[in-house]
Amino acid sequence: MTRVLYPGSFDPIHNGHVELAETAAGLFDEVVVATLANPSKGDGLFDLESRMSLIQESLEHLSNVEVTKFDGLVVDLAIQAGADFIVKGLRAVSDFEAELQMAQMNAALSGVQTLFLPSASRSSFLASRLIREVVRLGGDVGPMVPPPVRQRLEGKLDR
Ligand code: PNS
Repeated sequence: MTRVLYPGSFDPIHNGHVELAETAAGLFDEVVVATLANPSKGDGLFDLESRMSLIQESLEHLSNVEVTKFDGLVVDLAIQAGADFIVKGLRAVSDFEAELQMAQMNAALSGVQTLFLPSASRSSFLASRLIREVVRLGGDVGPMVPPPVRQRLEGKLDR
């Protein structure tokens, strides 16, 4: 049985994340999706609790996926969750350098290796940072995010 951890900021979860979770759920027996703080990112749109709820609602069609949140090192969560590997998505070569560095740091800290999965080409332009920017400036990201996120964003903009 192979259990993997798919960590990310997920602020908010978008269609590219959903596709990657679906791919991981098809490849591995159990997938733990975790939202963590990314210390290098600025102000978020949603707090960890809200991000976790939105991930849960967006991935409820995947029976071998569980969702959690964690405030700490991703390798500590990987060990605590009993994950064999960390799984990360790669959208383009530009993602690779930072992801490789994190994978090497995480392996050095804990021995836990990272597996990279390619994102689907139709969603390779999606990034939570851009979604937050478009939302804050009043643009429509509806087709790029799962329905629970769309509904929460409508609520945020109504206020
Ligand atoms: O979706 P993101 O922002 O690319 O995810 C990055 C994330 C949350 C996985 C990364 O920032 C992370 O691992 N944060 C937890 C703190 C940690 O373990 N830092 C050391 C990473 S080498």
